[in-house]
Amino acid sequence: MKNDLFIRAAFSQPTERPPVWMMRQAGRFMKEYWDIKNRYSFLEMCKTPEIAADVTMLPVDLLGVDAAILFSDILVTAEAMGGQLSFEQGVGPQFANPVRNRADAEALQVDVVDKLQYVAGAIQVIQQRLQGRIPLIGFAGAPFTVLSYLVEGGSSKDFKRTKLLLHNEPELAHMILQKIADVTVDYLNMQIAAGVNALQLFDSWALALAWDDYKRFAHHYNAYIFSKLAREGVPVISFCKGSSVFAPIMAEAGPDVVSVDWNADLRMVKDSLPQGMAVQGNLDPFVLYADKRVIKERILHLFDRMRGQNGFIFNLGHGIMPDIPFDNVKYAIEVVKEFSY
Ligand code: CP3
Repeated sequence: MKNDLFIRAAFSQPTERPPVWMMRQAGRFMKEYWDIKNRYSFLEMCKTPEIAADVTMLPVDLLGVDAAILFSDILVTAEAMGGQLSFEQGVGPQFANPVRNRADAEALQVDVVDKLQYVAGAIQVIQQRLQGRIPLIGFAGAPFTVLSYLVEGGSSKDFKRTKLLLHNEPELAHMILQKIADVTVDYLNMQIAAGVNALQLFDSWALALAWDDYKRFAHHYNAYIFSKLAREGVPVISFCKGSSVFAPIMAEAGPDVVSVDWNADLRMVKDSLPQGMAVQGNLDPFVLYADKRVIKERILHLFDRMRGQNGFIFNLGHGIMPDIPFDNVKYAIEVVKEFSY
């Protein structure tokens, strides 16, 4: 690997500067993304290895990030399990057959990794294009977050139906979560076999949960997944919104890196984690709307807080929004790359 800053930081080894990549780095804030998106549906893009590779490479070529992330979506596992998934412009993901009762839950399939082979295909094409320049991150959705989409039938503000399921019918919730967890283990091991260099588990909506519910319904399954991966040499990142509260439990699940939202002081989180556990984060993505002077100030302040720490990957606290100016994203990456401790 020519540039292994990201892998070294993820394993808490020394680096000359923090590595940088950004969640949702291959997306709608790029004109070049729209050039492709206007020709295909989102799911076609995910399922056609050449196109998924084209999109994955956009931020590599145009922004010079230190890691690529597979172009796909966290909901492809749920689709493979039987969810009728569609993405409509302006609406987001939708399942036509939400999971609302025991019969729906029992209908979910678990032996589905064959249906996800297009992802292995994409990984192979991407690795041919990367030629060992930088690492490739694979990913999956965490069981609780995927469950929330299956139960709500799409995005939700308050996760009311999902919480009602957890609270009133915990056994049924556990049955579905275990199925998603088993699929996720197969899926991530398939990604490792296909050649990804790192993995991130996205538990985006865990912040909706109370502490005990997080432990029972989110942490338990994430820990199960991390324990079942053939992860030798492949660092594993655990992301959730809510990590400023849940970081100590997230660490117990045994990832190599905890990815932190922007509410917390990153150094305080790092200091609270076990020795040798890395952190990723945690610039407020809204800073990327601001003047370049502010963008630089905020990044340098974060670096000041993290001075002397191994195990630090620069990223945002959550994904880039579609209307953030491309120029500002590019500038932020330049600021990181010009920095040295
Ligand atoms: O980071 C990357 O660039 C890699 C690709 C990636 C996408 N989705 C592409 C995408 C990744 C890592 C994801 C993960 C994902 N998908 C998450 C977890 C990350 C997070 O943001 O918390 C979640 C919750 C989803 C579910 C999902 N997919 C939603 C809610 C949406 C709609 C988003 C919106 O803002 O409308 C999607 C669609 C999606 N996934 C798009 C992209 C580029 C937009 C598709 C389009 O062009 O219309």
